[in-house]
Amino acid sequence: MEYRIEQKDIDLLRTAGMTKPDLDHSLKVATKGLEIAQRTGATLDLELVGRGALFHDLGKTVTHEISHGRIGAELGAKLGLPEAVTVIMEKHIRGGLTEPEAIELGLPVKDYTLHRLEERIIIYADRLVDIIHDGIVDIKEETEAEVHFVEILNGYSKYGKNETTLKRYVGYHEEIQGLIGGRIIDAAQLKEILVQGGGTLLDVRRKTDREAAPGMIPGAVWRDPEQVEQWAGEIAKDTRTVIYCARGGSVSQSVSNTLLKKGITVAYLDGGLKAWTDQGNSLR
Ligand SMILES: [Fe+2]
Repeated sequence: MEYRIEQKDIDLLRTAGMTKPDLDHSLKVATKGLEIAQRTGATLDLELVGRGALFHDLGKTVTHEISHGRIGAELGAKLGLPEAVTVIMEKHIRGGLTEPEAIELGLPVKDYTLHRLEERIIIYADRLVDIIHDGIVDIKEETEAEVHFVEILNGYSKYGKNETTLKRYVGYHEEIQGLIGGRIIDAAQLKEILVQGGGTLLDVRRKTDREAAPGMIPGAVWRDPEQVEQWAGEIAKDTRTVIYCARGGSVSQSVSNTLLKKGITVAYLDGGLKAWTDQGNSLR
């Protein structure tokens, strides 16, 4: 699917009173977001990436304070923008606040989690665009912002903010770079691999998780993540191995890191088994 930023959306921002610097920033975030979305190879709603990024700072037509997220969402709703777009405005402040952060910032306590990959890509693009264009960090090529992302966030509090925020941004960075590098795949890519056949699919959910919900992705074999050192030797190095855990978090990361160190070509499923079933795919 192709998506291009539409002139009518740009006009909407101008009419709403967005300043030229803010509009330039919004356009850059939308362009960067779309570029990254395409590089991930994941199946994404590109219109949501493009429009969510373009409108994320709509509230800056009123204020540059932290309340611009919430104000933007209200404005967006009045302008008739889809809810999927307005929630991005509200949630983009520091990339998905936790409850204590919302309280600290004096924002309404609610779920700011960026549940959709499209949302996380926008936040990542927003960070990258600032790093590339602020002139604070010496950047010669745009890719440097991605390559040195973690050290830049650690070195400049403007970008890392605090430990909680920094960890969250680094999490998005690792997930998205994992997708770009093929170390992480989405459910649609896994489906394609299963259709083609020839690979190895391992369910590496914790034993307790598997016992609580025995259903597995068709073709998968369960392996205990605690025993990875024992079973890693059985995996053929010349085939592609895909693993998944419950949610595509720490279990997948640690098992895949162990396998990668042993020279095994492995990828894990973004969002884990939850993402698979959330998208309506069946289990056996
Ligand atoms: Fe913003």
